[in-house]
Amino acid sequence: MRHHAPDLSGLSLNPAALTKYVDALPVPERAQPLRKGHYRIAMREFQAKVHRDLPPTAFWGYESMSPGPTFEVRSGEAITVEWVNNLPAKHLLPVDHAVHGAEENLPDVRTVVHVHGAKVPSESDGNPERWFVPGRSGISSYPNRQDAAGLFYHDHAMGITRLNAVAGLFGHFLIRDAFEDSLRLPAGPYEIPLCIYDRLLQLNGQLQYPRSWTDDYNGNALLLNGKLFPFLAAEPRPYRFRLLNCSNGNFFLLSFAKDNLSLVPGAEPFQIIGSDQGLLAAPLEMKKLALTPGERADIVMDFAPYAGKTIYLKNSNFPIMQIRVSPGEPTRTFSLPARLRNIARIPESAAVKTRELTLMDYMDARGMPTHMLLNGAHYSMPVTENPALNSTEIWTLINLTQEAHPIHLHLVRFQILDRRPFDLEAWTKTGKLVYIGPAIPPEAHEAGWKDTVRADMVHATRIIVRFEGYKGRYVWHCHVLEHEDNEMMRPYEVI
Ligand code: C2O
Ligand code: CU
Ligand code: CU
Repeated sequence: MRHHAPDLSGLSLNPAALTKYVDALPVPERAQPLRKGHYRIAMREFQAKVHRDLPPTAFWGYESMSPGPTFEVRSGEAITVEWVNNLPAKHLLPVDHAVHGAEENLPDVRTVVHVHGAKVPSESDGNPERWFVPGRSGISSYPNRQDAAGLFYHDHAMGITRLNAVAGLFGHFLIRDAFEDSLRLPAGPYEIPLCIYDRLLQLNGQLQYPRSWTDDYNGNALLLNGKLFPFLAAEPRPYRFRLLNCSNGNFFLLSFAKDNLSLVPGAEPFQIIGSDQGLLAAPLEMKKLALTPGERADIVMDFAPYAGKTIYLKNSNFPIMQIRVSPGEPTRTFSLPARLRNIARIPESAAVKTRELTLMDYMDARGMPTHMLLNGAHYSMPVTENPALNSTEIWTLINLTQEAHPIHLHLVRFQILDRRPFDLEAWTKTGKLVYIGPAIPPEAHEAGWKDTVRADMVHATRIIVRFEGYKGRYVWHCHVLEHEDNEMMRPYEVI
């Protein structure tokens, strides 16, 4: 990614100077219904300490928590949520009114909640234009007619999603089902939802964000469920982690390590059992896991071999969490079922249409990025992607930029067909795809159901999607929130 000096005021914190591993990893509490199936969740400003030795940081959070409370729902059991905006009238972070949808004449504080990965009617989907202001609320119903999966909810207000997210408006939304129950995966205290995200913190511990739009927000602090360099006191037994890359634009490479050195990534094996939209066909042993913004992974890490030892979770080469495994007899040897969810590959022949859709960035005369577009179209231009309900399409995401973009479609789950490098010059001259290498199939852990796909630079990434569920207006966008906010988002309509 390109880097530009952001216009920041206030001194930045140097997290390396803090004592590490003095705060326990928090686990967000469960969302509690008012009565069965009905929730009321209020967004408020609150203070929380990200580290023992820092003053409290002002955040925005659902139920005054960030991450917000974890929803745990059963597949097939509908819920309704009243999302209440009890935020102050002044934004926690500077709003850039030059960004589309965040103009001067609009209120600075606007929210709307989207459950990422949920198959919901359009009016409950958290369309970015359906925002509401402090004192107001929005009611959504979630039918939850879908497989068990680790979804997440987050703000989606037009032109300020990146700011509302940095402020803290996100949380886990777990759907469970009988099939998942039958697998007897680690549960209760042994299942940990884990949001990982970077934040730019000032010396005084407060959040910082550039005054004017940047294409690339990079924090100086990596938070795990709201803490900087936390520790986890674990038992010598398997744990299930529901991982979520909740950063605005950071790509993570996660691993477990026996050392805390910053020279090499870790190499301790773990099992991945699920991706964005639920369980994989079979568990897969991995040592490194790449996670782009908006992507989730369901992993099982057995701490039994580390009884009495300390190990680390790393991002790239850097330790971000310490895991203290208690001594003692490891619990009975654990093994995962050899097969998980049966996942039928959608044959390409099922597609009634193939759409070629470009990802493009634009610069001003000084080479500074100004905005980004999907298929050359601004958000407010008429809908061009209008798949028929229950039809299957192939979307070829043609990335003309020099960076990868995590592309997310609302409403649906899809499968990745392949990624293939193409000749950018030939495209520029003729508008035709001339491939310059073989098609690369998805990695094994990406071969399940997805809702967010990494579209690599100067590759054509093909996904196959069945537009199931509901007719109506949805959006698709880049999940780098800086990109999404600055026009890398388009409405689409299921007809
Ligand atoms: Cu996770 Cu449209 O978003
Ligand atoms: Cu979404
Ligand atoms: Cu992007």
